[in-house]
Amino acid sequence: MHSQRLIQFVAITAITSSVFANPVPPREPIDNLPRGAPLVTDEVLLLDAPAFQTGEGGEWTASVRMFTHIRQVQSKIISKAVTTAIEALGIEIGDKVSNVLERSKLFFAIPRGGISVDLDVAGCGSASMRVGETSKMGLLERSAGIGACSGSSSVRSISGYAPGFFKGRSFEALIFQSPPSGFGIVSDVDDTIKVSHVLDKKKNMQAIFVDDHEVVNGMPEFYSKLDGELGNPAWFYLTGSPYQLYPSLRKFIFEAYPKGPIITKNLTVTDIPSIFQNLSDEDIFGNYKVTQLEKLRRFYPKKKFITIGDSTQADPEAYAEFARRYPDSIQCIFIRKVEDADNREERFREAFVEVPESKWKVFTEPSEITELDVASGQCS
Ligand SMILES: *[C@@H]1O[C@H](CO)[C@@H](O)[C@H](O)[C@H]1NC(C)=O
Ligand SMILES: *[C@@H]1O[C@H](CO)[C@@H](O)[C@H](O)[C@H]1NC(C)=O
Repeated sequence: MHSQRLIQFVAITAITSSVFANPVPPREPIDNLPRGAPLVTDEVLLLDAPAFQTGEGGEWTASVRMFTHIRQVQSKIISKAVTTAIEALGIEIGDKVSNVLERSKLFFAIPRGGISVDLDVAGCGSASMRVGETSKMGLLERSAGIGACSGSSSVRSISGYAPGFFKGRSFEALIFQSPPSGFGIVSDVDDTIKVSHVLDKKKNMQAIFVDDHEVVNGMPEFYSKLDGELGNPAWFYLTGSPYQLYPSLRKFIFEAYPKGPIITKNLTVTDIPSIFQNLSDEDIFGNYKVTQLEKLRRFYPKKKFITIGDSTQADPEAYAEFARRYPDSIQCIFIRKVEDADNREERFREAFVEVPESKWKVFTEPSEITELDVASGQCS
């Protein structure tokens, strides 16, 4: 009976979407299903989590995030609606239909709130812990104690499972455990390490949904060198992209760059046009990035951060603001100049006002920064 309602809902949504001009009904969470552990019809997107030390007793805490939604009904109508909407922007899909379907899938997922999941972290003393519940929109972000973990720096697997009847259905992710001190590298994604054409809406949509993801030349080498020279640094990818794009970003980053948790934005999607609108909104991310950097600094209070971004949006402004607030927490700031962005000297001078010039560097080619001795504080 529920499933019939569901299919009907999905169908109405998809049909309205394909009209495009009309907003589809909001992706209302379905409220009449039981709360508690996930049902067979539910899906859990468990994100990789940073873990940090809390207290003196060797206790660790992980910043757990997840999205619970109703298992995708693989409807031809939805596929048609998405491809139509993308082609309406004048973008050729060609033989990349599978990219489009894979990457748009979560935008069409119907949130399922009130779900709690039990998590087990490999090699950390405590028994499984229950985190939850997810919000009405299926989201959860929570600091959860994971017990006394051995060592101070490692990558562990975390598995979530539904207790009781559905025990055995599990959801896997990684926990990145790192000590309070040492180096932390915070990297933007779009146009910093991945070719995204943020400044051109059509090309941007094509890069997000259609084309195979592509690295920014020279950046994998630079990151690999930093990873080797900074003594097991903690990597964080801080992106303005919403969590719906997390699976494809993770696959891309993990293949080309040092692994680390990826911090995405919450985005509540109401209709297809709003997806495109929100994804290409020009810098609204400045404050979001400062807030997220402050959170990382609370997790790792003695770390020195290297922040890396580009000139398309507000990375210079956000990173500079963080550096002004916490001068002792910043090792170096690197900004990649992207063609057609605001690359005026005055923009950077203004952004970095009161930040020592020796701390930041704007570059065009990664080769300009690859030789720097970042560990010793040489940033330019
Ligand atoms: C995202 O949503 C979760 C759950 O509602 C919330 O706890 C978290 O603070 C939100 N994150 C941001 C960056 O707004
Ligand atoms: C997304 O875009 C819509 C307009 O299309 C706007 O009302 C909404 O606030 C935006 N949401 C976010 C999270 O930026």
